[in-house]
Amino acid sequence: MSIRVLDVEVCSKELTLYQRLVGDVSCVVWDAAIVLSKYLQLLIEPNGECSLIGRKVLELGAGVGCVGLTAATLGAEVTLTDLPEALPLLKHNIVENKSTLVSQGGFATVEALSWGDVESDVIKNTAFDYVLLADCVYYTESIDPLINTLKSVNQNASKKPCIILSQELRDSEIQMGLWNMFFQKLKKDFNIAKIDSSEQHSEYSSDDILILHCTLKS
Ligand SMILES: C[S@@+](CC[C@H](N)C(=O)[O-])C[C@H]1O[C@@H](n2cnc3c(N)ncnc32)[C@H](O)[C@@H]1O
Repeated sequence: MSIRVLDVEVCSKELTLYQRLVGDVSCVVWDAAIVLSKYLQLLIEPNGECSLIGRKVLELGAGVGCVGLTAATLGAEVTLTDLPEALPLLKHNIVENKSTLVSQGGFATVEALSWGDVESDVIKNTAFDYVLLADCVYYTESIDPLINTLKSVNQNASKKPCIILSQELRDSEIQMGLWNMFFQKLKKDFNIAKIDSSEQHSEYSSDDILILHCTLKS
């Protein structure tokens, strides 16, 4: 296993994220996750306060957990989710960083959640304040299930979660087509605001990486 240490600069705390050298897309931290993590810190702690304390956060397609663990370091109660095969490394990273999260008032737990499983207890039983996802649009078959999952979060609650997603826009024709398809479908059901680069972290942002805020239309 290779190790990458990500400095999240939250109240001088540092997260240690283990990644695998060999494996699939869930084994490494993707750039869109770092950009989203750094943006979250700007959004949540403009005055140096960990103001996600008491907030419930769901991360979809968490990979090794960069974004969810950042939210937990900002004080949130975070449920990090991914496919079952991604969970061992994700759990390892939670254990590795547990004392850091707890010292910040945060908490992290891991659950299997496959997009499209709208009957899952993970999304049925909790009302989330935020849903976070980084670089989760990269294959055709996942687009409708992912949108269905986004629509189903808080299905039993009156409040709508704030969805914050980041996505690297890759320049291959296939990936551009996929993103356009996802975006057109997302637009039908969600109000979407694109976050300008001036509102993102000055160092950890890129013209190729989008950040969107989305809320389900009434
Ligand atoms: C490109 S990786 C991004 C990982 C992480 N968010 C990051 O940016 O570092 C996409 C993630 O989506 C997860 N994923 C893919 N298809 C999924 C599905 N149908 N249900 C749940 N998670 C899925 C993968 O296992 C992987 O962790």
